[in-house]
Amino acid sequence: MKSIQYSAPAKVIISGEHAVVYGKPALVCAINKRLSIKFTPAKKTIYIDDIFPKLERFVLDFLKLKKEKINKIEYSYSVESSIPMGRGLGSSAAYCACISAGLLELFTGREWSKEEINMCAYKMEKYFHKNSSGVDTSTSVMGGLIYYRKEFEFLKTISSLAIKIPKHFIDSLVLIDTGKPVETTGEMVQSVGALYNKNSKKMEIIFNEIEKATKRIIVSLMKEDLSFFIDNIKENQDLLGQIGVVSEKTKILLNDLKTYGVGKITGGGGKIDSSGYILFLCKNKDECIRQLEKKSISYLQFLPSYTGLIKEL
Ligand code: MEV
Repeated sequence: MKSIQYSAPAKVIISGEHAVVYGKPALVCAINKRLSIKFTPAKKTIYIDDIFPKLERFVLDFLKLKKEKINKIEYSYSVESSIPMGRGLGSSAAYCACISAGLLELFTGREWSKEEINMCAYKMEKYFHKNSSGVDTSTSVMGGLIYYRKEFEFLKTISSLAIKIPKHFIDSLVLIDTGKPVETTGEMVQSVGALYNKNSKKMEIIFNEIEKATKRIIVSLMKEDLSFFIDNIKENQDLLGQIGVVSEKTKILLNDLKTYGVGKITGGGGKIDSSGYILFLCKNKDECIRQLEKKSISYLQFLPSYTGLIKEL
């Protein structure tokens, strides 16, 4: 048997993080940073980290559930990635997508559909993020611009939107690194859960407002209305602050940068110190980048990718 290699993209949540865990929609875009895993049949499997055997178990359980004949061959594997880790850009989702695709094929000798790979990757991602909505793995597997909504475990809308992010929006966007949060995404989801348990009425009101902002952002993309987009990014950031997922340090940074544009956290966020990446809309991109470089703040270009999970080998 030959080597098998899959790659999957990072993602940026444009709107709806956290609210998506409570049945609200999220708008997410895959971006041009990718992770790939190569599996090669070997005499003996050598795991390069402690988590991998646990993730492999999810694949085996998934295959058992499907009553699929399993040929558990031994293998070696190597991982390559350009996705910054633990900063809200979906590195663990891309990891789960590639492991699922690669091991499903390795243990059965056939390729699996994206829907099945996503189902397996979602179960795996729950190991990392416990109460995960599935939005990250779905975007990484499908690629492009995704409207995602989970009503129930058995009912999820994963729509690939036909609209694209207008070029003049992309030309103004940048991803600013506030640093790696102390908390994991799972811990941030739990901390929002604790607030929800204390005051579900208030949290429901905020999530409803986030839903409205998400829908208005979609309208702004359709109408190519940049100022409507900016208003709703600001609104979204404000609401995320109210559910406690934005640290003081990140709020201060956004305030320092307010002459140059507006931004919102993307993904789980972080409240103790850093909050991961910020999706930032520059008034003047060259000027904005000059400022970031002057302040030694690292950033990435925001470049959408319409290529989801793919088989490389
Ligand atoms: C993390 O990228 C997005 C969250 O909404 C968690 C999830 O949906 O699984 C914070």
